[in-house]
Amino acid sequence: MSLFARKSVEKILSESSGDTHGHALKRTLGATQLIALGIGAIIGAGIFSLTGVAAAQHAGPAVVYSFTLAAIGCAFAGLCYSEFSTMIPIAGSAYTYAYATMGELLAWIIGWALVLEYAIGAATVSVSWSGYFVSILESFGIKLPATFIHSPWDPTPGLLNLPSVIIILLISTILIIGIQESARFNALIVAVKLAVVVLFIGIGYFFINHANYTPFLPPNTSGEFGVFGWTGVMAAAGQIFFAYIGFDAVSTAAQEAKDPKRDMPIGIVGSLIVCTVLYILYAIVLTGVVNYKDLNVSAPLAVAVDRMKSIPWLGFLMKLGSLAGLTSVMLVMLLGQSRVFFSMSRDGLLPGMFSDLHDKFATPWKSNILLMIFVSLLGAFTPIQQLGNLTSIGTLWAFVLVCIGIIIMRRSHPDLPRPFRTPLVPLVPVLGVFFNLLLMFSLDRLTKVAFIIWMLIGLVVYFGYSKSRSHLQLSLKGK
Ligand code: ALA
Repeated sequence: MSLFARKSVEKILSESSGDTHGHALKRTLGATQLIALGIGAIIGAGIFSLTGVAAAQHAGPAVVYSFTLAAIGCAFAGLCYSEFSTMIPIAGSAYTYAYATMGELLAWIIGWALVLEYAIGAATVSVSWSGYFVSILESFGIKLPATFIHSPWDPTPGLLNLPSVIIILLISTILIIGIQESARFNALIVAVKLAVVVLFIGIGYFFINHANYTPFLPPNTSGEFGVFGWTGVMAAAGQIFFAYIGFDAVSTAAQEAKDPKRDMPIGIVGSLIVCTVLYILYAIVLTGVVNYKDLNVSAPLAVAVDRMKSIPWLGFLMKLGSLAGLTSVMLVMLLGQSRVFFSMSRDGLLPGMFSDLHDKFATPWKSNILLMIFVSLLGAFTPIQQLGNLTSIGTLWAFVLVCIGIIIMRRSHPDLPRPFRTPLVPLVPVLGVFFNLLLMFSLDRLTKVAFIIWMLIGLVVYFGYSKSRSHLQLSLKGK
């Protein structure tokens, strides 16, 4: 049936040589650089902001277990991403993988879900950025009025989150002008981020108050799902899953890897391992320094370092480092989003304006401007937690489909060269589907409803617009 028409892998590979973003890519990245690329995209608002809320509202210090659970789901998905990234090594994404394996409709569904991952993810990070920015200004004695630093639905309500809007405007401008992210700059940001987290763990360790670990797993007294107890650990896992998002960015660099067969899995799984270890230690220290009840804020690290008063310079440096780290995550996400739109538009599924390039800068500027408006409105008026949860559910769904895609691809294209093979297929992808679905179900009701509405809108757009304009469908009809 035409809904499941697949784009041939050979065609995708041949098209990619003419990709604006992917032309003449040199194979320069080794395993270490790929791990750095992953860490650059991964460490961000998840630990700098959402861990606090997850501990305060769902799991208490047992948020450590939540980090472990989320890491397991990611590990299975990461192994599947590794196979795809070496088999279809183009500067694309899960959208492209799905087009080759599961057909156009599912590719569209993944592309539509990726908007949650990238665009809403960028909005989430912008609110976290705003929290740290405000905290830095406060260390200079500048206090911005609550009206302009909070959304109307924040615990402390305001009118809009202005710093969040400003940073999205700035980053979008950078993307339109097309300043290339240099490997050296990325390495610097990654070093700063790692230093912030490692310093926090190393120094925070000495400020742990063991009384904060009792109870370690606060009991669920209300009987409501997700409010502490083991269901709380699960709800927190769905929420802090956000912290791991970004390792899939490594898969988009497959064409630039020196030895993709060896280095892609090392890059993907390696960055996940480094982050998992750091996150677990970070969560232990954070909930030890500050009681989980006081962590319901968008800048928990700032609250914790403010408690380490004996080292005054530390707080300032860490907040500054966090700000830099968050900026790089937003860049990756907004760039990722415009790339996905670019591919969808070139396939005829979205209007041509999403792939129109600027005469001088050669960037998809119209797409960037639309995204800027959409993302900054979300950042201005939505609390971080809702944004983060919506990002998580969209990404989890994309992961589920990628895992299924591996099983389908093994049957439909058994002979295609696979420089890296996901081990124990179908067990690993099936476990990936299971864990990622479990995390999806652990999220709150509002998030699930919003997700379903978003996906339904996607189907309306597909059947109302995209299907009849799809280049693949038109070619099948011989037009
Ligand atoms: N993992 C990224 C972050 O936590 C998206 O900001």
